[in-house]
Amino acid sequence: MTLPENRKKFEDLVNKWIILEEGTIKEANKLTGNSKNPMVNAIIDLLRMDSEKHRHILQAIQKSMHTTVTFSTDDLKVVDTFVEKHMLLEKNAVETAEQALEMSSLPIPRLLLSHLLNDEKSHDAYMSELNDIKIYMAKGTD
Ligand SMILES: [Fe+2]
Ligand SMILES: [Fe+2]
Repeated sequence: MTLPENRKKFEDLVNKWIILEEGTIKEANKLTGNSKNPMVNAIIDLLRMDSEKHRHILQAIQKSMHTTVTFSTDDLKVVDTFVEKHMLLEKNAVETAEQALEMSSLPIPRLLLSHLLNDEKSHDAYMSELNDIKIYMAKGTD
């Protein structure tokens, strides 16, 4: 990301993505207000809350582009503790979610659980990826 025009293109894409996420959040909020059915709201919440997460992470990336991000020894310790504490928890969550999905027979809960299981698998993979990326963080900057 050294060429200014590429940087600008990248920033435009991130901005566009944030606007898309905000559209989803706004529409989803409107719809959940129209139903008191907890399953209908869960169907919508699954996407709305992901969009909130995506917006939050994209805004952090957006902010990081205007400063030089450095990692201190204390920062590394925080990430280390995070990985250490969550590695086992996420593995456990995958196994538990697989069992719950297997036991569930109703179509809507099954649909929701299968998406949560995919989330848990992605959290598990994320922990492994973080373990690898720590080498780059140890170099001091992003
Ligand atoms: Fe998204
Ligand atoms: Fe998880």
